[in-house]
Amino acid sequence: MTETARSEALLASLVARLRAAGCVFAEDEAQILLAAAADPVILEQLVQRRIAGEPLEYIVGAVQFGGLRVSVMPGVFVPRQRSVLLVEIATELAAPAGTVVDLCCGSGALGTVLAARLPDAAIIAADIDPIATECAGVNLAGRGRVYLGDLFEALPQTMRGRIDLVVCNAPYVPTSAIATMPPEARVHEPQATLDGGADGLDLLRRVADESAPWMARPSHLVMEIGESQADTARQIFEVAGFEASIRRDDHRGAVAVVGTRDATGRA
Ligand SMILES: C[S@@+](CC[C@H](N)C(=O)[O-])C[C@H]1O[C@@H](n2cnc3c(N)ncnc32)[C@H](O)[C@@H]1O
Repeated sequence: MTETARSEALLASLVARLRAAGCVFAEDEAQILLAAAADPVILEQLVQRRIAGEPLEYIVGAVQFGGLRVSVMPGVFVPRQRSVLLVEIATELAAPAGTVVDLCCGSGALGTVLAARLPDAAIIAADIDPIATECAGVNLAGRGRVYLGDLFEALPQTMRGRIDLVVCNAPYVPTSAIATMPPEARVHEPQATLDGGADGLDLLRRVADESAPWMARPSHLVMEIGESQADTARQIFEVAGFEASIRRDDHRGAVAVVGTRDATGRA
């Protein structure tokens, strides 16, 4: 058997095993696992972990997001491709040299891609989970500051009134819906990264309500939501003093609520 035929046979067998284990993108995953493994013994260990249901991103330690390779540590929320919509909206709205906060940053994927797309902006990330802030620190190294704590209270007091744009993918899954999520999320991602309370909007309410003293005027707040939450999220933003609209990306299955406070401080 030639080397090429051996490689093709190995790839085909990996794809078949991954597909049998329920991996929807078995071809892509097989290539990623092959590239990540230094030798056949390690490859087999990685494949066994994947077949057992561990997220691919934890196994290889990274995900491609917004055109960049973003490190992901076990225990940190795996960035979803739909969240690129938040980055695109933030890139449109942010002043080139503005102060941009990635709140509830997880791995810092959003802030990391924003740092690349807005090279003159000050990028700040914050999360309540120390593993997340450690991971964000790796991804934002040399390009942004990372703080640990509860929503805006994580930030230095000197930032009050100075934030031009907040991008925030807070947990928004209704508590009762977590049981219906795929095992990759339900079993491997911490519940605190998913659980948004009874209607999924507990964190969104808090972010909208607590944002005013921290934001400059004008400024923007951009948050990811589910389709069924759009009307309620817009109302919450409006009550909190934002002019609010909904943006969708049907291709990625993404929905965002976008709030703007104008320069006069409309409330
Ligand atoms: C859905 S994950 C999103 C992570 C990241 N923004 C992304 O899109 O990949 C939500 C994140 O919110 C963080 N979080 C939950 N409650 C928080 C709070 N009260 N203050 C700050 N971060 C919080 C979690 O630790 C988690 O990293």
